[in-house]
Amino acid sequence: MTSPAVPDLDAVSSLQVTGAGPARGSLQVPGDKSISHRAVLMGAMAHGPTVITGLSRGQDVTHTLRAVERFGVSVTDAGEGRVRLEGPIRHEPDDVLDHGNAGTGIRLTAGVCAGISGVSVLTGDQYLRRRPMDRIAEPLRSMGATIDGRENGRLAPLVIRGGSLTGITYAPKVASAQVKSALLLAGLSAKGRTTVEEVHPTRAHTEEMLIQFGARVSVDGQRVTVEPGELTGTDIAVPGDPSQAAFWAVAALLADQGEVTVETLYPGFGRSDFVGVLKRMGADIDFDLTTGTLVVRASQLHAVELTAEDIPGIVDEVPVLAMAAAVAEGTTVISGAGDLRAKESDRISSTAAMLRAFGVRVTETEDGMVVEGAARLRPARVDSHGDHRIAMTAAVAGACAADGTTVIDGWDSVATSYPAFAADLVRLTGAVAEPGA
Ligand code: S3P
Repeated sequence: MTSPAVPDLDAVSSLQVTGAGPARGSLQVPGDKSISHRAVLMGAMAHGPTVITGLSRGQDVTHTLRAVERFGVSVTDAGEGRVRLEGPIRHEPDDVLDHGNAGTGIRLTAGVCAGISGVSVLTGDQYLRRRPMDRIAEPLRSMGATIDGRENGRLAPLVIRGGSLTGITYAPKVASAQVKSALLLAGLSAKGRTTVEEVHPTRAHTEEMLIQFGARVSVDGQRVTVEPGELTGTDIAVPGDPSQAAFWAVAALLADQGEVTVETLYPGFGRSDFVGVLKRMGADIDFDLTTGTLVVRASQLHAVELTAEDIPGIVDEVPVLAMAAAVAEGTTVISGAGDLRAKESDRISSTAAMLRAFGVRVTETEDGMVVEGAARLRPARVDSHGDHRIAMTAAVAGACAADGTTVIDGWDSVATSYPAFAADLVRLTGAVAEPGA
């Protein structure tokens, strides 16, 4: 069966979605963004070739690829997500590293730069330059790096003079895989071992992949330790991104007759907790951990309570889970999610504003929100605030549950992580997607 032709909608600043029908069908989502950033950075640090397949083609990872070229690493892009890197890093970057919108890109690369003798300057777009960098700058300074930036080093552009690091033991104040990863990557070139002790466990891609690249890493509960040492190039096959599959899971749940299958997702720790949350809400959802296949069928949902314990495992899925809560029976309370205010947008306030635009009753709290369920969604005009996850949540709600035309301003943010999302949306829901007026 051939899919209907869909114009290239990745670059439009505003997208208009008309429809209100179920999402049905199966698909593969882009390569996992978190794993892709790490594969590129470790491939650049490693001695010898690394071949990556299934790499995310979003702008965020493209910025990381361009950044490692600045270190003298050769990058051969064969297209379709197949990239060959020839490490190791040869010198300090020969220009400013622009990470665009990518928080993971800039923070993990900062860890790499801290370990290189020389100076690196890291920056990003208007949204990234507002996000806190002290969470990585402080511990990297205590390892011996000199880091400066705007507002006393809290904000990018960051200037890092690296080299001569000493390993530390550090307990981050926020549960953050980005902080853990920056320190572990810096720790590879430090004197002595580097240990990160987490209060809440976060995604484990860095420690898993460091082992694949031959590093000496030990994990003891929520303590991860890396010994200094060199990496050796290897081949990395990037699985599908569970955080992107979450949009299709909720899409399937938003309208009667919805049924979606997403294949070849990353099945490991810390990325598919949204499946458990949707199950707690009564969803007919099944995730096969051996094949990475997710199957979701329309179900009557009920409210759920999400607390600080839940958040690290669903940190990127809160906007779309809040949309599921809007159509569920009862009142959903989300708390312990204060760090969402420091994501691509202030995600507590941008999620609340999006829900309100669809006619949902929602109250913002300092560290979360209260969502009144059983809402009948009305078509909305939504501002993404430059945040891809707000834009994609609004698009599935507009296509599956709001009868009429929904307009999403700031649609171009979606290209950071999921080029061709609009094409998948049209294919699965039959909605009409066109540049917005
Ligand atoms: C990521 C970690 C999370 C997540 C981000 C990707 C990663 O951020 O929100 O999208 O790849 O390490 P924090 O670790 O800062 O919570």
